[in-house]
Amino acid sequence: MGEGILSVGGDPFPRQDGVLFCEGVPLPDLVARWGTPLYVYSATAIRERYTELDTALAPVPHLIAYSVKANGNLGVLRTLAAMGAGADIVSGGELHRALLAGIPAERIVFSGVGKTVNELAAALDAGIRCFNVESEGELRALSDLAEMTDRTAPVALRVNPNIETPTPHAYTRTGHAATKFGIPAEDALRLYRLAVRLPGIRVVGVDAHIGSQILEVEPFRRAVVHLLELIEQLRMDGVEVEHLDLGGGLGISYEGGEAISAAAFAETVLSLIEPTGLTLVMEPGRYLVGEAGVLLTRVLYMKEGGGKRFVIIDAGMNDLLRPSHYAGYHAVDPVETHGRLRVPVDVVGPICETGDFLALDREIELSEPGELLAIRTVGAYGFSMSSTYNQRPRPAEVLVDRESAHLVRRRETVDELVAAELALSDEITIPILTTHES
Ligand code: LLP
Repeated sequence: MGEGILSVGGDPFPRQDGVLFCEGVPLPDLVARWGTPLYVYSATAIRERYTELDTALAPVPHLIAYSVKANGNLGVLRTLAAMGAGADIVSGGELHRALLAGIPAERIVFSGVGKTVNELAAALDAGIRCFNVESEGELRALSDLAEMTDRTAPVALRVNPNIETPTPHAYTRTGHAATKFGIPAEDALRLYRLAVRLPGIRVVGVDAHIGSQILEVEPFRRAVVHLLELIEQLRMDGVEVEHLDLGGGLGISYEGGEAISAAAFAETVLSLIEPTGLTLVMEPGRYLVGEAGVLLTRVLYMKEGGGKRFVIIDAGMNDLLRPSHYAGYHAVDPVETHGRLRVPVDVVGPICETGDFLALDREIELSEPGELLAIRTVGAYGFSMSSTYNQRPRPAEVLVDRESAHLVRRRETVDELVAAELALSDEITIPILTTHES
C-alpha cells in the first residue's frame, strides 16, 4: 500500500496516477479478479466513521446499534461487531445475520411495524436488548408470547413525535403523523400504562426514528425534547426507563458537501441527555457505511439519440435502485482518467425500463466501451436493495482492508436464480373445492 494513502479522515477512494484505488488496492485489479458489476467497500472508512460517532457520544453511556438494512453483508457486520457495535434489525433474517456475525444479542434492538409472531419468538429466544414496539397489537402479541414461553420481553415504544424532517425524498420521512410508523404521540402514554400492566413485558426505553439522510441537528434536538417530556411523564407515573433510542437518519455527503457533523450532533443532543443519566441508543445505517462503498461497472456501448448521449453500462436499477426509486444522486467517475472531454451523458443500465438509469444529464469524462466507471457513495442501500429483476444475478461484494481485498460475497449464478423453483412434477397440487348449494 502507498504510504499514507488512507490517513484518518482521508479519502477511502484516492486516485494515484489517474487510477482510482480503494485504500491501497487499485480498483482495476479487483475487476480483473472478480468482474463487474462489483460492490467494493472500505473497512477502514467504516471503522473511522464508527470511531467518530463513538468518540462523539463518549460523554454518555451509549449503544451504536448499526442498522443492518443499510448493508447486511456479513463482512461488513463482522467489521462493525469487532468495533463493539450492536445492531438494529427489522426481520428474522436480519436477526440471523447479526447473530451469525457475532453481534451479541444484548446489543440488538428490533424495529419495524410488521414483526410476525415467528420473528418475535426468535428474538425472544435470542434474548435481545429491546423490542421497539410500534402498535398496540404488537405489544399484546409480544406479551402473549412472552407469557406463554415464560419469558420477559424488554420493550420500548416507538413514538411518532410528529416532526417534519428535511430529507431529500418523501419516502425517507418517517417522523410526521401521517406515516405508518410509530405510535401517535397522543397515544404513547396510554400504551405505556398498558405495557406496564401486561404480563411478560418490561418497559426499558423510549424510541423514535424520524427519517433518513438528515443533515441538520435541529430535527434530532426536537425529537429528544419530545422523548424527554414523555420520559418525565412516565417518571411521574412511577415508570423509570433505562434508555432513549433516537433511531438512525444521520446524513452523509452524496454531492461533495459535508456529512452531518457527529461533534455538532453530540454537542446539542448530549447536553439534553447527560443530566438524565439515560443510555443513548442510536441506530445509524447510512452514516457508517454509505460513503465507504462504490459500485464498479463496465461501459458496454455508447449511443446517441433524441439529442442525448447514452452511456450503456453493465449495472442496472436491479443492482442499484436509489437513482430511479428516490431520484438519488450518485457521482459517477471513470476508474482510470484519460484527460478526455467532460460531456453531458445519461448513464443507463441494460434493464428493460425507462427508469433504469444510474445518472441523468451528468457531465463526466467521455469513456469508451470496455472502460470502467465507479458509482460513488453506494455502501448503504446499494446491494441491500438489489434484486434479480430481468434474471440478473446480483453483484459480488469485496471488502478492502488496507492492502488486502476479501471477496465477502461471490457473484450469484443463473443456476441459483432458479434453484428454489419446483419442477412441475414436484408441484404441490391443491384440489379445487366446489361449493354446494343447500
Ligand atoms: N432505524 C430505523 C427504525 C429505520 O427505519 C432506519 C431506516 C434506520 C434506523 C437507519 O436509517 P439511516 O441511518 O440509514 O438513515 N432506502 C432508503 C433509506 C430507507 C431508510 C429506512 N429506515 C435510501 O436508500 O435512502
